[in-house]
This record gives sequence, C-alpha cells and structure tokens, in this order.
Amino acid sequence: MSNNISIAVIKRLPRYYRYLGDLLEDGIIRISSKELSEKMKVTASQIRQDLNNFGGFGQQGYGYNVETLYNEIGKILGLEKKHSLVLIGAGNLGKAILRYSDFSRRGFVFKGVFDSNKEIVGTTLNDLLVRDMEELKTFIEENEIQIAVLTIPKTNARDLAMKLEKWGIKAIWNFAPVDLNLSSGITVENVHLSDSLMTLSYRLKHADKKSSK
Ligand code: NAI
Repeated sequence: MSNNISIAVIKRLPRYYRYLGDLLEDGIIRISSKELSEKMKVTASQIRQDLNNFGGFGQQGYGYNVETLYNEIGKILGLEKKHSLVLIGAGNLGKAILRYSDFSRRGFVFKGVFDSNKEIVGTTLNDLLVRDMEELKTFIEENEIQIAVLTIPKTNARDLAMKLEKWGIKAIWNFAPVDLNLSSGITVENVHLSDSLMTLSYRLKHADKKSSK
C-alpha cells in the first residue's frame, strides 16, 4: 500500500468503517458500490476511487463483501490491534471521553488517567485511579503507552506534549485549544469541536432550501 494516500481519503475511511459496521450488525453480507453510495450520500465513483487507493476490494458484478471490506478498512486504519492510551486532564471533557465505551470497543484502551490537581489525584474514574503527573513518565514506559489524550487547558499543553514525545508517546489526540505543531516524530490529531460548530454556523447562515447531508 502506498504511503501517499491523501489525507482527504484517509479522513473518509472512518465513515466507511462506521457504515460497514452498521451493515454488518444488520446481517448484510454484500453491498454494491451504488447501494453503499446511496446510503452514504457520496458518489459510487468516489467510493471506488477511494478504495482503489488500497487495492479495490470490490468485484465486478458482486460489489463488496461487507465483512471483508470492514476488516480491510479496519486494518488500513490500524484497528486490528489494541492501542494503549493515557488521558491527561481528568476534568469535564476528560471524564466524558473516559465514559464513552465505544472507544474501547474499537480497541482504544485507557490504561491510566493523570491530573495535576492533587485534590483529584487518588480518586477513581471509570475504574481507573487518577494518578499524579509525577508518575506519568514511568507509567508510559512500563505500560508501553502509545497514545496520550490531552484534555487540559492550552497553557501547558505544548510543553507537556514535548515531554510526552521524549517519554516515548507516539501520538497525541489533542483537545487543548491550541494546535500542537510538533516534530515529525509524533503524530498529532487536533480536535476542536468549536471548529465544527463554527462550520455549522456558516452553513446555517448560508443555508438554502435544500436539506444538507
Ligand atoms: P476542566 O477544568 O473541567 O478540566 C481540566 C483538567 O485538567 C482539570 O482537572 C485540571 O486539574 C487538569 N489540568 C490542568 N492543567 C494540567 C496539566 N498541566 N497537567 C495535568 N492536568 C492538568 O476543563 P474541561 O472543560 O474538561 O476542558 C479541558 C480543556 O479542553 C480546556 O482547555 C477546554 O478549552 C478544552 N476543550 C476542548 C474542546 C475541543 O473540542 N477541543 C471541547 C471542550 C473543551
């Protein structure tokens, strides 16, 4: 598989994965690109083009085997193995993320929770002990943690991210309201719900009579 797949294609894969997961749950064994396109409101040629980046998976006259395609897209997304995560910042957002069970169902397993507030340290969140930041480095090393989830204010986010990189973290799922531009040795996915809300606002402002997808 080529490493030159555009980020736009990669960003569409989770949506395919989600739809295929739903089809699997509904007991659907195969689907044509036309049917999939109708469900997902993207063109059949877009689906074919996207999947051709990875070798196709479809068969002329048959369409796609839902389970095979689901598993293949899962592998492309790196979901075939479990990932160990730590969450840093056990506040409102951190708690909400920890309580969302779908992440562990997808193989993202929270192993530790950390916070700098000594009043929170020692309490339990979703069966996980909230630990002192002093323990973070050793915890990452001993538990072979790959991914850190940052749900702290922006003030210390960049400094902490740089330390995390030194301590062996390979990827950061960043919710702190700052774009972390780190070295190429670490993968960062910045998530800003407010960006999505502002996009919604734009679309609301410019909405015509057509209903949106
Ligand atoms: P919160 O105040 O409830 O929780 C923040 C937690 O982080 C607190 O428990 C605090 O003790 C801890 N903390 C602060 N600095 C720390 C550090 N250096 N190391 C370890 N722990 C630290 O805040 P809330 O509502 O959970 O929001 C957290 C952050 O996420 C805020 O920066 C907020 O702006 C941001 N946020 C981002 C969203 C997004 O879409 N990206 C959506 C909602 C909030």
